[in-house]
Amino acid sequence: QDVKLWGGRFADGPSAALEKLSASVHFDFRLAPYDIAGSRAHARVLHAAGLLTADELSRMIAGLDALEADVASGAFRGTLADEDVHTALERGLLERLGPDLGGKLRAGRSRNDQVATLFRMYLRDHARIIGGLIADLQDALVGLAEAHPDTAMPGRTHLQHAQPVLFAHHVLAHAQALSRDAERLRQWDERTAVSPYGSGALAGSSLGLDPEAVARDLGFERGSAGNSIDGTAARDFVAEFAFVTAMIGVNVSRIAEEIIIWNTKEFSFVTLHDAFSTGSSIMPQKKNPDIAELARGKSGRLIGNLTGLMATLKALPLAYNRDLQEDKEPVFDSCDQLELLLPAFTGMLATLTVHRERLEELAPAGFSLATDIAEWLVRKGVPFRVAHEVAGECVKVCEAEGIELHQLTDEQFAKISADLTPQVREVLDVHGALAARNGRGGTAPSAVAVQLAEVKADLAVQ
Ligand code: ARG
Repeated sequence: QDVKLWGGRFADGPSAALEKLSASVHFDFRLAPYDIAGSRAHARVLHAAGLLTADELSRMIAGLDALEADVASGAFRGTLADEDVHTALERGLLERLGPDLGGKLRAGRSRNDQVATLFRMYLRDHARIIGGLIADLQDALVGLAEAHPDTAMPGRTHLQHAQPVLFAHHVLAHAQALSRDAERLRQWDERTAVSPYGSGALAGSSLGLDPEAVARDLGFERGSAGNSIDGTAARDFVAEFAFVTAMIGVNVSRIAEEIIIWNTKEFSFVTLHDAFSTGSSIMPQKKNPDIAELARGKSGRLIGNLTGLMATLKALPLAYNRDLQEDKEPVFDSCDQLELLLPAFTGMLATLTVHRERLEELAPAGFSLATDIAEWLVRKGVPFRVAHEVAGECVKVCEAEGIELHQLTDEQFAKISADLTPQVREVLDVHGALAARNGRGGTAPSAVAVQLAEVKADLAVQ
């Protein structure tokens, strides 16, 4: 049965080429459960407005329930001839209830307000799913931090040895970024809790329907849209979701890049578990960090989804335009990709072997305690400008001799500066240098313990 929602004024049916172009059912059918929930809420306000009798309402709800079960079991599917999910479900309802009752549901609503509402419902559900997956990833990072409470590593800026830091400090920096992502998802969700249902095509309805009742029914805590034109035309909730998911992709990609580097022979900081790495079809010895590489690759795709969507929205006049049908695939894809990626990525981190001796060995390399010499001099009253020069001279001598800072002799120190008494050796110890940085946010074990507690407290409310 070919059900069109708009055949009346046309003498000729659509061309095959138009039908193919116009169809969205192959990607928007995933909105079907939300569309049916919307239809139930809509049937209730039609009844409240006196447009459906009590008996009609209960038969309508029963028909929608039956259709919902058939969608869930796969017994009912949309086909390309249906055009979109809304048309497919109308066909399903007509098949179940007949045209007299089935044909009453469309009164006072449009696909424009429907799709804007269902899309919000779908994305809100997936924001929660993705939020849960981020919490799992944070748990894995917390696990790494807890397993290595006092392991030092070379902290880097410009990818060069900078100053030693605690491994746990570094790992928890990534957890902090993810906490903000989770917060962004929650704040987005609050902003998106507004229902456009009742906006109609753009101007609202003349049938005395109650949009607030529909909003309550569908779980939109902030009620119905305050402006029906905005209700049907606004897509900033989609763009913002695309940004938040792209940002998650970027933050995960930054972890991924480090795993890839740490896993190289040259670094040898970590070893991946066999279950979370891949081999090569030709090189028998290979063990590759494919999960991390896919994370890096998918972040590009997530950014593309955001920029493509922004280009679609730019300069669209009010209200609904068919261009807006292009808004769904990018963010459906962003959801799908993150929901695929995050469990694998979390598994990779949760099973990572960290090579403590290697990290400890490299922590003081590259003269990373030079700043500690300068700050030791400052504590003795030497102006920092001078202290910086003196510490730099120490590095110069070490480089020339091919030795590390702690290997300078008392004589060499004294020759560089009279202020460099042998006591300077106190600060040429990595763990002493770490412990000294005990202010809020610093890398001392005591300060990192506070960070760990904060991330865990954050996770508890997420
Ligand atoms: N498939 C359409 C979309 O995703 C639904 C709304 C269509 N409205 C219309 N007037 N053609 O945007």
